Amino acid sequence: MTESPLPSLLQPLTIRGRTLKNRIVISPMCQHAGRDGFATDWHLVHYGKFVLGGAALVLTESTAVAADSRVGIDDLGIWSDAHVPGLKRLADFAHENGALMGVQLAHSGRKAFSQPLWQGGRALSPADLDALGLDWRRVGPSALAASAEWSTPQALTAAQIAEIRDQHVAAARRADAAGMDVLELHFGHGYLVASFLSPLANLRDDAYGGSRDNRMRLAIEIARDIRAVWPSDKPLFARLSCVDGAQGGWDIEDTVVLARLLAAEGVDVIDCSSGGLSEETRRSNVPRGFGFQVPFAERVRTETGTLTQAVGIITTPEQANAIIAEGRADLVAIGREALRNPYWPAEAWRQLSGAQGFDAWHERHGAWLDKREPVLRRLREQEERP
Ligand SMILES: Cc1cc2nc3c(=O)[nH]c(=O)nc-3n(C[C@H](O)[C@H](O)[C@H](O)COP(=O)(O)O)c2cc1C
Repeated sequence: MTESPLPSLLQPLTIRGRTLKNRIVISPMCQHAGRDGFATDWHLVHYGKFVLGGAALVLTESTAVAADSRVGIDDLGIWSDAHVPGLKRLADFAHENGALMGVQLAHSGRKAFSQPLWQGGRALSPADLDALGLDWRRVGPSALAASAEWSTPQALTAAQIAEIRDQHVAAARRADAAGMDVLELHFGHGYLVASFLSPLANLRDDAYGGSRDNRMRLAIEIARDIRAVWPSDKPLFARLSCVDGAQGGWDIEDTVVLARLLAAEGVDVIDCSSGGLSEETRRSNVPRGFGFQVPFAERVRTETGTLTQAVGIITTPEQANAIIAEGRADLVAIGREALRNPYWPAEAWRQLSGAQGFDAWHERHGAWLDKREPVLRRLREQEERP
């Protein structure tokens, strides 16, 4: 008798020299729990939960390539060699417990320095930054603020752009030294590279602005520079906002073109998100619904042949499995649902495979859950007896 194949969501996927044991990735989620960019115990416990929860790959929150490129002051950072051991601790824990670990590299550009959501999520004003003793100013492609809430960024010079590219390369080397398996380039959500891509934020008239080819230049250069130092057996992902969600903005047709070019530079997976460029696009024209960004992942996958990652309101194992089974994406990223239940991947395994046991749990837990099962069955039967 031949065994029935595993449901699509549970099938492994090998990308270059790394095998994801299933198709479930934990989406990057800012924690605002770092100290000067250093990972803390919070990060070990937070990411460790997802590792024990059965995800194939855990991605860190956006991790700043420069001190003044953070989304929030307490973001993780990778701008110095001193940050490596803290990140390595996370990767080591993942490897000891059967998961891969990746780092999301980010420069937040004109949307740098905001409060954590639970403190209001407000953009810090230049006066707030001065009060904190931080001589930081926002930067972007052009002197155009993300919205009234954000201060006007300084338009980057060509020399500053080159410096930011170098910061990404140095960060990639450090991620490798930390034992990370995957790098994800954060090219979405209105942060630096996304703002270069969008004609609504990029009004430059040099080689980095104007035509779409010029607006894509920074993304492609960063991908190329990083691929040159990121080991060839390690996967490279790029998260894109596939649409700005605003009239005259970056759109899915642009994303398809960029995805092809990034793939040619050695990007393996396009992680398909959307929005975030400005206040207007926060209320994105993309209606929120279950799996609302899956059509972007599907389109990029179909039209470019690149592997894609779908993300956004994916909440049930059946929904996630259908996305993979129907060939709409190769990976699903789970964000908030994993905050609710870090064991979501393990539960998905049990539910979809029909397994009676707890093999998807760490044996330190699974063995006890297996042992309890017959007891629970007996107790339930007793309760059901008249
Ligand atoms: C607390 C929190 C922090 C987030 N931080 C990041 C981030 O650092 N980088 C990023 O690309 N997306 C970030 N996101 C977006 C998520 O990665 C994900 O794309 C989004 O939450 C939609 O997926 P979900 O519906 O499964 O939560 C964050 C989301 C949440 C809820």
